[in-house]
Amino acid sequence: MNILILGAGGREHSLAWAVLQNPKCDRLIVAPGNAGIDQIAECASLDVDSPGDVCDFVVDNAIDFVIVGPEAPLAAGVVDKLVDTGILVFGPSQAAAQLEASKAFTKEVCDAAGAPTAAWARFIDANDARNFILRQGAPIVVKADGLAAGKGVVVAMDEATALAAIDDMFGGSFGAAGAEVVIEEFMDGEEASFFVLCDGKDVLPIGTAQDHKRAFDGDTGPNTGGMGAYSPAPVLTDTLQEQVLDEIIRPTIAEMARRGTPFSGVLYAGLMIAHGRARLVEYNVRFGDPECQVLMMRLGGQVLDLLLACAEGRLADAQVNWADDHAMTIVMAAKGYPGAYEKGSVIGGLDARPATSQQMVFHAGTALTDGKITAAGGRVLNVTARGASLQEARDNAYAMVEDVDWPEGFCRSDIGWRALS
Ligand code: AMP
Ligand code: GLY
Repeated sequence: MNILILGAGGREHSLAWAVLQNPKCDRLIVAPGNAGIDQIAECASLDVDSPGDVCDFVVDNAIDFVIVGPEAPLAAGVVDKLVDTGILVFGPSQAAAQLEASKAFTKEVCDAAGAPTAAWARFIDANDARNFILRQGAPIVVKADGLAAGKGVVVAMDEATALAAIDDMFGGSFGAAGAEVVIEEFMDGEEASFFVLCDGKDVLPIGTAQDHKRAFDGDTGPNTGGMGAYSPAPVLTDTLQEQVLDEIIRPTIAEMARRGTPFSGVLYAGLMIAHGRARLVEYNVRFGDPECQVLMMRLGGQVLDLLLACAEGRLADAQVNWADDHAMTIVMAAKGYPGAYEKGSVIGGLDARPATSQQMVFHAGTALTDGKITAAGGRVLNVTARGASLQEARDNAYAMVEDVDWPEGFCRSDIGWRALS
């Protein structure tokens, strides 16, 4: 089978790594890929947000199955175009990808499905939004409706911050994504992520994880795309997973089908847990990055069979075989990230250990320059290890970090603190 993965980050490196372990995979192309992916698969340059370009590439290269990594191609309708052309693809349609691309859409679906989530209101007028904030008071959460690369959410602990966010969003800081704003009740609690495959009708849980959004130790500093993750997330007990499936995920999938836009792909439920109950914070319609890296480490080659079953609508008969262990990934980022940072520094020590099913350094933002691996992004490496316990996975991963020779990079030293303390 010829397979194409769309994307360029650590998520796509880990997907490629897992897919390659499955004997069904004859040829793997990742577009556009990165220097780490290039060591294990073919990389091709391609505008992955252009449905027409992707479709032409798939036909020219006799691709049998396409796996879409990031959200932008989904929101751009790449899956719809491939499906129309008769190509098998893993990922939701443009209409179903609204579950990530529009916060107001997701809230409407949750209300129709009776799924527990924060109380909310939507605004297209800045004055109405300001008055609402003054009536509600802080803490309160202000969100740009559309995709804003993870930066469109302001958790305001005081009114002034909330009002400033309104000025920002309606002032155009997020372009079209901020033309409509959602204001939500602030939810307190512990966050965790739950990943399920959906084929429009059936759902198959494939794991839990916890991410670390803040840049620095102790959950301080600016928000990032995620500085490290581990799986499983102990806070998501079996009982809570059942509650989330019964009250949030299955009703959402039923409501999407009822609307005539069934959801197919991976649904990533961001949850807030308090007083033994979970409420939905948000949906994403793709694997998390770096959460994907720890899920792939624990699932291995069966991932291809699961993604195929999902794309072909066969999840009712599919089964996940878990290694009863733990995985952790530590993000190494360029100093300055998530603010301004330098590109081009040389990274050494990457060959210190063999890549195995127990330990992998996934590349998030690297390039090959004059034969050397160099930093080419903010988040650069995902140092990932497994262990019989979370402590062992953590110790293994941090030992691998020690081997990396990259003075221009940094990482958090406390990934996993919630689950380990
Ligand atoms: P989102 O993009 O909706 O996931 O929001 C990003 C982050 O903002 C989440 O991971 C939460 O930490 C926080 N957040 C979003 N909505 C709320 C809420 N209603 N209450 C508290 N925190 C929230
Ligand atoms: N790590 C958070 C995300 O992928 O959205």
